[in-house]
Amino acid sequence: MRISIIGSGYVGLVTGACLAKLGNEVTLVDIDNEKIEAINNGLPPIQEEGITEILNQAHLKATSDYRQIADADIIFLCVGTPVSEDGAMSLEHLTEATGQVTRALEGERGYYVVVVKSTVVPGTTEEVVIPILERAGKKAGKDFGICMSPEFLREGKAVYDFMNPMRVIIGEVDKRSGDMLLGLYRNFNAPILRTDLRTAEMIKLASNTFLTMKISFINEIGNISKKLGIDVYEVAKGMEFDDRIGSKFLNAGIGFGGSCLPKDLRALIGKAKEIGYESRMLEETLNLNEKQALKLVQLLQKHISLKGACVGLLGLAFKPGTDDVRDSRAIGVVQALLQAGATVRAYDPLAMENFKKLFPQIDYVTIEKVLNCDAILIITEWEEFNDLDYTGKIVIDGRRIAKAREARIYEGVCW
Ligand code: UDX
Repeated sequence: MRISIIGSGYVGLVTGACLAKLGNEVTLVDIDNEKIEAINNGLPPIQEEGITEILNQAHLKATSDYRQIADADIIFLCVGTPVSEDGAMSLEHLTEATGQVTRALEGERGYYVVVVKSTVVPGTTEEVVIPILERAGKKAGKDFGICMSPEFLREGKAVYDFMNPMRVIIGEVDKRSGDMLLGLYRNFNAPILRTDLRTAEMIKLASNTFLTMKISFINEIGNISKKLGIDVYEVAKGMEFDDRIGSKFLNAGIGFGGSCLPKDLRALIGKAKEIGYESRMLEETLNLNEKQALKLVQLLQKHISLKGACVGLLGLAFKPGTDDVRDSRAIGVVQALLQAGATVRAYDPLAMENFKKLFPQIDYVTIEKVLNCDAILIITEWEEFNDLDYTGKIVIDGRRIAKAREARIYEGVCW
């Protein structure tokens, strides 16, 4: 099929590359010329396992010209939908892209389906996207199709996740729209759920916020267990045998970051508020997460005075295997350390450049220099941190690095 993808960020690029690998003809549209050039030269603008190989083999081109989507069968909207601190989702890119798509597809032509893949709050496809697409005088569900099909890609494993989905959710305005999208997933071995548009939107937010709740829950159990002299990792092991609980996302630590989980949680809290519902459970999940990383700094203050101290950070990325620092737990920690008058030295194998844009005032150094600080905080569980010599050091660990226990003073954030 002829596929157009609007937005070549994380979701757009991976979706486009994987659909091209499956034999479709793919055109990516973006407003960023640097990205377009990189993609057309086979150089992915993101760090992602397996993507370079696909870009170099598959039938895929990138452009800034919306006219090139004119003969597409399926158009995916994959632009960013940032969420502010108070939970309001910005639809600026989505409305702009939808307007461009409407103009590119106006006039006489065959049936096509527009698929919203950007994460949006329930109601957005019906109340915002469809009215824009219908401006050209065509009717959704009659002259063209529309679906909402959320993506559940993990950074670093996004190509694998796309090719091996745990489920495919197809929200559809009518059966014909959904049937057309389903054609792309013909050979996938995954459960497929077909719903209406707003249910699909909610499935995405509910799935991600459930994961955040799981993390904040085990962190809370960790905080209580630590006070009682109990190891939360042993507790989690005991819980995991119950398959109603499951074994994933029970790693206690300093909480969740990244481009999706915190944002989706804030968006759902914001939407609930907008309709007059106060979700105490979701709000507390977020509050706990904000506080959890700062515990590292509080624990450290039991052992040293921060004013004038040199504090070393191991890890800045929101998780290992990525250079992404969006909503990384390191951000709050660095702010708190600087406020308390400490000097900060940090090391991360991939994320230092990105973190430097947020905090140019701290020192980016080698691992050895971090280890020579007065105390060390572990922020990200990079594997290489398990090979270091911590003897004689003061370490407060946010991610359960086993080797760090050999430190002279060792404390886990919630164990
Ligand atoms: C997540 C979801 O997993 C994916 O399905 C979604 O569509 C996008 O958001 P990603 O942002 O790549 O993917 O990160 P993920 O691997 O899920 O980890 C998120 C954060 O949670 C990280 O900061 C990680 O350190 C933290 N985490 C995860 C924990 O603190 N404990 C856990 O047990 C698991």
